[in-house]
Amino acid sequence: MENDYTKGLRGVVAAETTVGDVRGTEGFFHYRQYDATDLARHCSLEEVAFLLLEGDLPDGAERAAFAAEVDAARPLPDHVAAALPALARAGDTLDAYRAAVALLGGPPLMDLTPAERRAGAVALIARTPVLLAALHRLARGVDPVDWVPGRPWAEGYLRAVTGATPSPAHTRALDAYLVATVDHGFNASTFTARVVASTGASLTAAVGAAVGALAGPRHGGAPSRALELLDEIGEPATVEAVDRVVRAKLAAGERIMGFGHAVYRTEDPRARLLRGIALDLGDPLAARAMVVERRVLELLAAHRPGRVLPANVELYAGVVMAACGVPADMFTPTFTASRVIGWCAHALEQAAEGTIIRPAARYTGPPAPEPLPAPRSSAA
Ligand code: COA
Repeated sequence: MENDYTKGLRGVVAAETTVGDVRGTEGFFHYRQYDATDLARHCSLEEVAFLLLEGDLPDGAERAAFAAEVDAARPLPDHVAAALPALARAGDTLDAYRAAVALLGGPPLMDLTPAERRAGAVALIARTPVLLAALHRLARGVDPVDWVPGRPWAEGYLRAVTGATPSPAHTRALDAYLVATVDHGFNASTFTARVVASTGASLTAAVGAAVGALAGPRHGGAPSRALELLDEIGEPATVEAVDRVVRAKLAAGERIMGFGHAVYRTEDPRARLLRGIALDLGDPLAARAMVVERRVLELLAAHRPGRVLPANVELYAGVVMAACGVPADMFTPTFTASRVIGWCAHALEQAAEGTIIRPAARYTGPPAPEPLPAPRSSAA
């Protein structure tokens, strides 16, 4: 048992959770007891945040009380607000956000009651979109936009990023994207959040570490790269144009961004959902993405026979976000604005569980112990 090793921990069960799950062969994922794509189609981000924190969807009174609680938590502490212009100079919004989260600080989860941990989670969920949008604007030399309380979260976020009130269609589309990306099994950033929470450290430490994991292109850092692929292929996206770009990448040993998944062996249900939303928005890029998807699937099937490399969430995420007015450099930060809800739910669950996560590694170096080398003379 001690020497068992599964590369990348694929399929290794590292915790028990009631937050949600992904069923890769079925192409299905859920939050708590509900199909996540149903939630994305029919519920708002605020309702789903409540679901993740409380275990079920809110009734009318709970919805209003939760919205008021989150609105009250949005204002940033003075020392954090004052530091934002300097942090924005990091250039990368997620780097700046990680630093801002560190500044928010907070006591170790181990020293808090469940109610205090929940309050910390509400504060972080409330402040994350405020921080991300403000850091983005400051980096561009424009002032942050004041958050308008009492409005849908997706609308508030789009306004905070772009400075303009979005259309109801764009608000709804972004809301669905945000709901669809709140949680997704034991992905790298969620696992990271749980490892840090398992040590009893603060919630901000757990979320800061999770953001670092999310930023990698193999995880959350891909949506702008998938859009770059569409740009590279250009218009019209003929089979020849797709072949030229994609075959060259495959020949160079590169991965095609927006395709493949560590768990799904069939269509990623988020890709299906977002494809439909992108088409409903009538964005020309959606049509181009569909042509590209069809041809890339054929090329990847020929490239890696026997290995299903489906379109993943990132292929259409960029299309939807761009159509809603989110700039490409805010794609992964926008993902962060929703995924922070999942990280918090998992961190709270892990903190309540109380066991430190401490796996083993298989040592593959020279046999030990070897005698120490003879002391070296210090004379040159
Ligand atoms: N393009 C080309 N080949 C790919 C590929 C892609 N997007 N994704 C996987 N492959 C190939 C690998 O090269 C590998 O081939 P090999 O066995 O001959 O070496 C095989 O498929 C399996 O790859 P592996 O890395 O084991 O798959 P994984 O399940 O660990 O990887 C991802 C999952 C998401 C990291 C991977 O598919 C990827 O890098 N995709 C592109 C980035 C992306 O879209 N990220 C967003 C994820 S939501």
